[in-house]
Amino acid sequence: TENNLTIAIDGPASSGKSTVAKKIAGDLNLIYVDTGAMYRALTYQALKSNVNIKDENALMKLLQDTDITLRKAGEGQAVYVNEVEVTNDIRQNNVTNTVSIVAAHPRVRTEMVVRQQKLAENTGVVMDGRDIGTVVLPKSDVKIFLVASVMERAERRHKENISKGIFSDLDQLKKDIAERDYKDSTRETSPLKQADDAIRIDTTTLSIEQVVDKVKQLIISRSK
Ligand code: CDP
Ligand code: CDP
Repeated sequence: TENNLTIAIDGPASSGKSTVAKKIAGDLNLIYVDTGAMYRALTYQALKSNVNIKDENALMKLLQDTDITLRKAGEGQAVYVNEVEVTNDIRQNNVTNTVSIVAAHPRVRTEMVVRQQKLAENTGVVMDGRDIGTVVLPKSDVKIFLVASVMERAERRHKENISKGIFSDLDQLKKDIAERDYKDSTRETSPLKQADDAIRIDTTTLSIEQVVDKVKQLIISRSK
């Protein structure tokens, strides 16, 4: 049935992954797993407990004691670290600007991948991230790779910040996004890279609804 479908959605920051993944998961009654939230949760915990994010051993020790839970909350997803809710905390700039350093450590990634695979063990999922189609769920039924220009992605974040009443500087956002793209695509361990069998969708000039429709079409045509 549809409920056993595994859908991988990868792409750079602000390409629309989580918005599209949530919508698809809701419509097809699949579990949504935001893997970026897991790296953010560990980063948040490290910053909070003064663990040096460049020290992989220290991070691994922290990760062993860090239980990360994702729970459906309305249309979205709530994130808990050791049962304390951190949904909003993990979106703060200090986390956003350092998470790629945490996510580059090979052993941190290995442990996260194990946890992510467990979440998809006995159920259909829509999972979004950077390495879902390539590493976490290479046998996914459908793999999507979303892209959009840096300018468009910075503008999306800018609008999102303004609507939330968060201070926002468009030029700085452009720089931050380009830097995160660079770090995520050039790291040694499972860099951001389109899987050979993934379908690339350039969302620069598309609305959310248009992207969701395209993805649904692909799911229908691929899962026959
Ligand atoms: O939502 P946004 O695109 O800003 O990022 P995210 O999906 O929350 O991911 C935050 C960061 O976690 C990324 O920039 C990557 O450094 C890292 N990440 C990763 O390495 N692998 C994943 N599967 C998901 C996220
Ligand atoms: O998860 P990821 O970082 O890839 O992106 P997102 O958080 O889902 O989307 C970033 C912002 O772009 C959100 O405010 C979306 O509403 C907006 N957006 C989009 O996702 N897709 C479009 N085609 C147009 C706008």
